[in-house]
Amino acid sequence: MKEISLNRAIELASPYPYALLVTIDKDEKPNIMGLSWWNFVSFNPILIIVSVAPERYSYKCLTHNKEFVLSIPAEDQAKGAWVCGIKSGAEVDKFKEAGFKPISSKKVKPPIIDGVTVAFECKVVKEIEVGDHNLFLGEVVAIHGNPDKSSHLYTIHYRKILSIDQEGNINMNP
Ligand SMILES: Cc1cc2nc3c(=O)[nH]c(=O)nc-3n(C[C@H](O)[C@H](O)[C@H](O)COP(=O)(O)O)c2cc1C
Repeated sequence: MKEISLNRAIELASPYPYALLVTIDKDEKPNIMGLSWWNFVSFNPILIIVSVAPERYSYKCLTHNKEFVLSIPAEDQAKGAWVCGIKSGAEVDKFKEAGFKPISSKKVKPPIIDGVTVAFECKVVKEIEVGDHNLFLGEVVAIHGNPDKSSHLYTIHYRKILSIDQEGNINMNP
């Protein structure tokens, strides 16, 4: 072992699961952002945490409407999913830019992205300030999945995207 920089450690600890956070803005227009910092934190109740920087348009959306859909994008959505991590909903309509189709959720206002591997509908139950991001604790109120699309996305550092399926097969260029 040797001492290394944070940048190198982030690279070395890769890959990280890549998710998409769907919210709606004050005009109820849906937005999508790329998100690595999320996790399950409780089974009963089912709780998911997401970490969102206050400068993101998604942060504004979450303060207007305290609901989100956390989606695990499928391998064939890699290009659109990446767009959601590099462009802001303050400037572009990311459903259009990414070529994604919104479908109605069951219990929350933000829509589901059609064709994702898994989607969790969540209602925010708590917001926690931490350093330069804020944590939003979401209670899962509905879960959807596409069992035929198990191959989904991971990132190396926050630079490169790849996909892995349930058998561990890796595609470095989805
Ligand atoms: C691989 C990757 C992971 C990211 N993870 C996060 C994250 O966990 N939290 C966050 O606030 N931003 C994260 N971002 C940055 C946002 O996705 C990015 O700033 C996006 O443009 C914000 O969109 P918005 O302004 O429409 O909300 C990530 C970006 C990439 C490419």
